[in-house]
Amino acid sequence: MAEPGRSCPRHYRYSPAVFARAADVEARSLYVVGGLYGNPFALEAVLDLARREGATLVFNGDFNWFDADPEGFRAINETVLQHAALRGNVETELAGEDAGAGCGCGYPQWVGDAEVERSNRILERLRETARGHPDLRARLGGLPMHLVAEVGGLRVGIAHGDAESLAGWQFSQEALRERPERAQALLAGAAVDVFACTHTCLPVMQDFATPRGTALIVNNGAAGMPNFRDARFGLATRIASVPSMEALYGARLGAIVVEAVPVRYDHEAWLARFDRVWPAGSPASVSYRKRIASGPGYDVEQALRTSSNGALSRAA
Ligand SMILES: [Fe+2]
Repeated sequence: MAEPGRSCPRHYRYSPAVFARAADVEARSLYVVGGLYGNPFALEAVLDLARREGATLVFNGDFNWFDADPEGFRAINETVLQHAALRGNVETELAGEDAGAGCGCGYPQWVGDAEVERSNRILERLRETARGHPDLRARLGGLPMHLVAEVGGLRVGIAHGDAESLAGWQFSQEALRERPERAQALLAGAAVDVFACTHTCLPVMQDFATPRGTALIVNNGAAGMPNFRDARFGLATRIASVPSMEALYGARLGAIVVEAVPVRYDHEAWLARFDRVWPAGSPASVSYRKRIASGPGYDVEQALRTSSNGALSRAA
């Protein structure tokens, strides 16, 4: 097995063909919320967004990460598990015993060793917290890895990573730029119109030609952390027939819009909570505090990669 945090365990894998099934969920309006990372204020904001339009929520993994305090851990999980939820690598590793996968992120080579090592330490601390909540741990372990939704006749595949692995990076903004043909093949194999994912930390929306017609991969980056330079909000993916007034960017697929919607949480409260749980010098502080405070070096123009051929156009 590769070093902890680099590997992609066998039980993380599935075939793209698993998505070629009847929808598990039908929704008029759907929010896919990936990478909440234990931010209770972002959770509050996302619940509020969904409540206002009676939308269905799907939490597609890594809703735990910074919630290493026992109260925070219980509160996040008890609320998220009232909705449709998939396990990410974090939930999978929390539910299991350490099998050498570390954080289970399957980090590619462009992520440095020191960062991978810090992620493994964050996971170790979080697992210690989770041990105090065996009921929640069991429920996390029982969550599915993938889900198929239908919104206005559009088929939506949802997973944490990509169309073949819970912690796959094929739908990261880097891989979509460098190996679009690989992503296209996976998307075609999944037989969906939209594939909604997260896991790789940065958002991207990119269109592809598939046998079904134009299809979209939409990665929301993180719901619980900023995704753009100087931003202080997370992102969720919204799929619906009526455009949102709040969308940052989006694309249209027939009668349906697929959008990146800001998750505007209480930034000061979150930063204070984060600093309390992960003080200066802790692995999470070293790896993430700068991003939480002022966003990563990434811009909206880099995330939106849809063609302007008429089949898709910017919705916001
Ligand atoms: Fe992940």
